[in-house]
Amino acid sequence: NSHPCVKYNTALFLLPVCGVAPLNTKIVGGQDASPGSWPWQVSLQTNDFHFCGGSLINSNWVLTAAHCFASITASQVTVYLGDQSLSNQTSNPNVVSRSVSQLIIHPNYSSSTHDSDLALLKLSSSVTFTNYITPICLAAAGSKFFNGTLTWNRTNSKPSDVNTLLEVQIPVVGNRKCNCLYGVGDITDNMVCAGLLAGGKDSCQGDSGGPLVSKQSGVWVQAGIVSFGIGCAQPNYPGLYTRVSQYQDWINQQITSNQPGFVTFTSTGTDGDLNRNVAPYLLLSQIFHLVMDHMFSIGERSGLQEGQFSTWTLLLRSKAFPERDVI
Ligand SMILES: *[C@@H]1O[C@H](CO)[C@@H](O)[C@H](O)[C@H]1NC(C)=O
Ligand SMILES: *[C@@H]1O[C@H](CO)[C@@H](O)[C@H](O)[C@H]1NC(C)=O
Ligand SMILES: *[C@@H]1O[C@H](CO)[C@@H](O)[C@H](O)[C@H]1NC(C)=O
Ligand SMILES: *[C@@H]1O[C@H](CO)[C@@H](O)[C@H](O)[C@H]1NC(C)=O
Repeated sequence: NSHPCVKYNTALFLLPVCGVAPLNTKIVGGQDASPGSWPWQVSLQTNDFHFCGGSLINSNWVLTAAHCFASITASQVTVYLGDQSLSNQTSNPNVVSRSVSQLIIHPNYSSSTHDSDLALLKLSSSVTFTNYITPICLAAAGSKFFNGTLTWNRTNSKPSDVNTLLEVQIPVVGNRKCNCLYGVGDITDNMVCAGLLAGGKDSCQGDSGGPLVSKQSGVWVQAGIVSFGIGCAQPNYPGLYTRVSQYQDWINQQITSNQPGFVTFTSTGTDGDLNRNVAPYLLLSQIFHLVMDHMFSIGERSGLQEGQFSTWTLLLRSKAFPERDVI
């Protein structure tokens, strides 16, 4: 099979056990997510407030950001899975919740540099997978994400919908370029940047800990964890994500049984971050088209082919408890 790192359930028609969203028919972002579109997305809540997102990576563990726990301890957290809207989670039969029996923060996490901004949460008991609750595959060591990607929109344009899961596509910005924007050295190899350089689409507070995902050969793979940024959706300040592929060894050291599925994500073509003069390029969507036309007019290039690099970040929005680090 084409994903040697994915564990396949051979009893069930070779379905991979991670990264499959049977109810996700979406190609283009920019709308409320329909139920089941992103079945690995979880909401972390304390006293009924959503404070961070996260992703389910096997039946017992959630991956999220370390900075979510600056002032919250594991015993205060309830994890909601199968949730599509924070406003009806109690009446939604697809939603299950768990408390947290263990919190593991990466030992190299630094709140000043934002490096290694990741944490693992062990659920109090395992969850059963459904069409609404499925683990995401993680990007394996050596995965390559050229610039050009997708994420969640965070705006206040529809405040009444603030509790609904929204989705948006944005491009990955190469680390070299991102370092130029943020200040050389601030963006480490442990981070991925994504955002429109023209501004207007970005993750923001409340999205922290949530996944940045890309689809490859029908399987969704998590590239990043929402970490920090300067403001939200500001021109020339893309969002920063923890680069999941740098942490395969560490994650596998913490989760010793029933390990999450790791998939090597491969970008083909030429890395636009290294070479400015290339890039055959296909549109991902009409909205994206307009924006990218603008970007091309100011000299941007994306070395992506359609479908190859659709990266999304999902935000479970909440007015109540903003938490992405904004610097
Ligand atoms: C993101 O928010 C902006 C501002 O409200 C809006 O114009 C745009 O359509 C949104 N994009 C998506 C993809 O939701
Ligand atoms: C929950 O709310 C969302 C958004 O309003 C809606 O699409 C979904 O159908 C609701 N689910 C249930 C089970 O009521
Ligand atoms: C923490 O960082 C040090 C220095 O870069 C590195 O040698 C070590 O392996 C890291 N620890 C983990 C758990 O990754
Ligand atoms: C891709 O890399 C090129 C070269 O550094 C850069 O100019 C461009 O902004 C990048 N494209 C995107 C979408 O980030």
